[in-house]
Amino acid sequence: MIQLPLKHSSTGASIFAVMSGLATQHGAINLSQGFPDFPIDEQLSTFLEEGVRLGYNQYAPMPGLPMLRQAIADDFKRRYNVDVDPDNEITISPGATYAIYTALTAILQPGDEVIVFEPAYDSYIPNIEMNGAKAIPISLTAPHFSVDWNKVRAMITAKTKAIILNTPHNPTGAIWNKADWDTLADIVRDTDIVLLSDEVYEQLVFDGAVHYSVLQHSELRQRSFAIYSFGKAHNNTGWKMGYCIAPPSFTLAYRRLHQFTSFSVNTPAQYAIARHLASGTASVVRDIMERKRNHFLQLLKQTPFTIHKPAQGSYFQIATYESISDKGDLEFAQWLTKEHGVATIPVSAFYHNRHDDKIIRFCFAKKEETLEQAIEKLSRL
Ligand SMILES: Cc1ncc(COP(=O)(O)O)c(C=O)c1O
Repeated sequence: MIQLPLKHSSTGASIFAVMSGLATQHGAINLSQGFPDFPIDEQLSTFLEEGVRLGYNQYAPMPGLPMLRQAIADDFKRRYNVDVDPDNEITISPGATYAIYTALTAILQPGDEVIVFEPAYDSYIPNIEMNGAKAIPISLTAPHFSVDWNKVRAMITAKTKAIILNTPHNPTGAIWNKADWDTLADIVRDTDIVLLSDEVYEQLVFDGAVHYSVLQHSELRQRSFAIYSFGKAHNNTGWKMGYCIAPPSFTLAYRRLHQFTSFSVNTPAQYAIARHLASGTASVVRDIMERKRNHFLQLLKQTPFTIHKPAQGSYFQIATYESISDKGDLEFAQWLTKEHGVATIPVSAFYHNRHDDKIIRFCFAKKEETLEQAIEKLSRL
């Protein structure tokens, strides 16, 4: 039997595949994986068809279609008042997960250390390890899942090469404020630490809050890869389209890898998103999701779950179930799927050591009827 090397420490299928599989097997309502179950903006479908018909069917340029990179630069100017150079700072990627892996591969060498805040999106640690580097997990402080900056100061060593941060945060829905960014700037100022800022949920912030992007922080921006996903902003996760914004020297290093891995990204989808962004009529996903979050929180009152804080951003809401069960969260989530027909994600899956605070994550990016059917089942608990 030929033995192949294990490239990272994560074993088995990802929790998202496991819970979605279990949901299908038991005919459960799937509030586990983070994807919308409602149609995309009609205009996007029209532009996709148009792209195919107009002949956008061959390889796009390696960094991405110029019209899409320009549309992104205009969008950032309009929404954040920041200047981004479409030629030297933006690279289109087949989804944000790929962009995170490519940026980490551009940064890391064997033996390097990377600070990761947990609970963390599940690709970060495997991606670090696939590069021979070591993840240094730091737990966020419940119930608000804020960063303990003294812990960060204490964990930085001569080997610290990068820090990965994610705001708005999956799975907790917490968002960083300007003071967080300024504290981080003080900490990294005299180091060569690179930041990887995962901002895939940047459009999804609620209650009048604003997303503060690393691109708005003139000092930190110089040492950062900022990562985005069209899937999260336009409800089309299956298109697997994203982009990376980074200073020219970082973008060069990123593209040196990208040209030999994916090389180029789905051309008609790039055309469609470019037209959609430039149209000025792209629907505002934030309002849709905020209405869904409010509706879901209202409905959840009919169930025995406890909410410690409404999600400030992302399309996830975490909840505890102490009055229902004392099972561990994985066992609880499996039981809930099999016996009560609602699939969720156990938050322990976002910790390298499966730390269990007995919290589960609901995705509320669903049709009203899906949310109502789920609550009907959960209210019988
Ligand atoms: C925090 C975070 N980063 C990145 C991604 C990946 O986005 P994409 O589907 O564009 O690869 C996700 C998707 O769930 C996510 O939650």
